[in-house]
Amino acid sequence: MAGSPQVTTASDLTIRPLTDAAELELFNGLDYVLNDEFADDLAQGRRRPSWMWVAQRSGRLLARAAWWTTSGSDEPKLFDIFDVDDTLDAAEATQIGVRLVTTALDAIIPDGTEPPEYLHFAPPDWRDNAASHRAVTVRMAALETLGARPLVERLRLEWRRGTPLPTPQGRLTFGSVTDREELIDLMVPVLDNTLDAHSRADLETMSPREAAAKQFDEEFAGFSSPRDWWRVASLDGEPVGFVIPARNTYNAVIAYIGVLPNFRGHGYVDDVLGEGVRILAAEDVPRIRASTDVPNVPMAKAFHRAGFVTFERTINMTWS
Ligand SMILES: CC(C)(COP(=O)(O)OP(=O)(O)OC[C@H]1O[C@@H](n2cnc3c(N)ncnc32)[C@H](O)[C@@H]1OP(=O)(O)O)[C@@H](O)C(=O)NCCC(=O)NCCS
Repeated sequence: MAGSPQVTTASDLTIRPLTDAAELELFNGLDYVLNDEFADDLAQGRRRPSWMWVAQRSGRLLARAAWWTTSGSDEPKLFDIFDVDDTLDAAEATQIGVRLVTTALDAIIPDGTEPPEYLHFAPPDWRDNAASHRAVTVRMAALETLGARPLVERLRLEWRRGTPLPTPQGRLTFGSVTDREELIDLMVPVLDNTLDAHSRADLETMSPREAAAKQFDEEFAGFSSPRDWWRVASLDGEPVGFVIPARNTYNAVIAYIGVLPNFRGHGYVDDVLGEGVRILAAEDVPRIRASTDVPNVPMAKAFHRAGFVTFERTINMTWS
């Protein structure tokens, strides 16, 4: 069914993609934390008007959905915008949302292809806030109707310039990563007993080496920041763990960090994370972003000990 964008008009509802970037003002008629990024994303090819859909009644925007990708890619990689007019009653909002997303998926995702993961940003206290709680539950209910299921809730964390830098403990020595193979050789054992839901989902369908290679090729290989920021931590010459400080399209990030199973439980995560933070802070970045799953309690605690604050949460849903 994928092919040319289609327009659906039924029960006076019009569902269609944007015609061009000039319609961004219409698209931004619903409020969301990413609204300010769309113009640059469109200019850089991370979004396309044909992946930005609206549901309107008599010209009024009632819902919108959009997909994102990395620059240079022809396929949508993430379903990260799904908003409904929250003044509608929940049942109607859900119904409109379902129709919008069904129509858009039909048009942009080839038959037989799994739709990209859905990501929704919510305030850290969304469960205690009636409006945020309703916004999350309406969107999740609509997508569950379409076969998506909750994968995990994640913390979005931020270290802000001016926060005291973690002090080096001097227990470990740090070296750079020589090549892809060296890093993958360290990533494979780190997957052992990982609490990370995306890694665990990968390990259901592939070997640890395949999962590590996938993460390297799909994520780390795309960073334009210097690879000599990446660090392997060692104790008496033996690798203990590693950290991947990087810059993505939007921010400096701790992209990944791991401690090898034999060395877990000694707080080495603090040494390794501290080194990653110091490397990025030396670049005088205004903030360092990171994410971790809510159930990955050891990692969340380590970020907080290093001075990161939770500024948002994400709800991740998949069709797998
Ligand atoms: C998360 C991770 C980096 C923590 O590293 P660490 O150096 O073991 O961290 P800590 O020493 O603070 O130990 C964390 C917890 O592990 C548990 N632990 C203790 N001994 C352990 C052992 N032998 N093996 C595994 N876990 C152990 C303890 O519960 C400890 O928590 P507590 O002391 O606060 O109660 C590491 O477990 C890891 O690499 N996990 C897989 C990759 C991952 O999740 N990376 C983060 C992605 S965002």
